[in-house]
Amino acid sequence: MRRKVTVIGAGNVGAAVAQYLAEDNICDVLLIDVVEGLPQGKALDLMQAGPIRGYDVTITGSNDFADMRGSDIIVHTAGLARKPGMSREDLQAKNAEIVGSVAEKAREYASNAIILMVANPLDVMTYHAYKVSGFPPNRVFGQAGILDSIRFRTFIGMELGVAQTETEAMVLGGHGDTMVPLPRYTTASGIPITELMSAERIEALSQRTIKGGGEIVALLKTGSAYYAPAAATVAMVDSVLNDRKKLYPCSAYLTGQYGISNIYIGVPAILGQTGVEKIIELKLAEKELKALQESASMYTKQLKELGY
Ligand code: 2OP
Repeated sequence: MRRKVTVIGAGNVGAAVAQYLAEDNICDVLLIDVVEGLPQGKALDLMQAGPIRGYDVTITGSNDFADMRGSDIIVHTAGLARKPGMSREDLQAKNAEIVGSVAEKAREYASNAIILMVANPLDVMTYHAYKVSGFPPNRVFGQAGILDSIRFRTFIGMELGVAQTETEAMVLGGHGDTMVPLPRYTTASGIPITELMSAERIEALSQRTIKGGGEIVALLKTGSAYYAPAAATVAMVDSVLNDRKKLYPCSAYLTGQYGISNIYIGVPAILGQTGVEKIIELKLAEKELKALQESASMYTKQLKELGY
């Protein structure tokens, strides 16, 4: 039987996730949105691209959350996106309502599924989905660290004139202004970037990464990024569906790792068929660990605002 991934939200991110999943030919895709006709129209359009793009999976659209039955993974993209001048945290109250109601539906209709959160503020929404769904924490996690890392990788490739595919990067912490790029673990063809560029340039590229989502919001003016967020999401889906055991920075539930508990935050994790299979605890330098813990305490405050 083909695997089924349900994508909640047929906006820019949801549609791009559906497109990349279809092009990778790895699962059937169901798009769900509350707007009548929108998921059905996008699904049909994507199906019609299949003969020439070379995929044969089934893509359908629905306004009925009961159709998420039988899903292996539920990718939650629904929610407001930032406008210029807004922080991700400004979206918290409205998006929490949407995430909470979808997590209830997931519990009702797809209690064995994995929830992959994409809506912002990412780490807070992932925690909220975990609490409302009642799913075990290995089956609820969030996409963000991969996106932040591929942004860092791209900037390094552009700076060095090296193919961005040859770069690797590790960005931990929350998906916001407190994220923690780790140049020590960041390389071009295996060479640490600390040997390839000055400390000033590394700091400038780290700062550009931290503000990477905002840079795109400022350019687009009417919404936020979607190609790179969708590509990052699909890499996570692929690792789970195909049990690839990829090691990615993801928003995962911590139970004491890095001295942090009862919160979701970006850490390196191995993703396989059961979801988050292992969290890797790096030996961070004092300054790096402090930055990660400060990021976590910022999200602990945000969670209090949601009543946790
Ligand atoms: C970003 O960083 C939307 O949070 C997303 O682009």
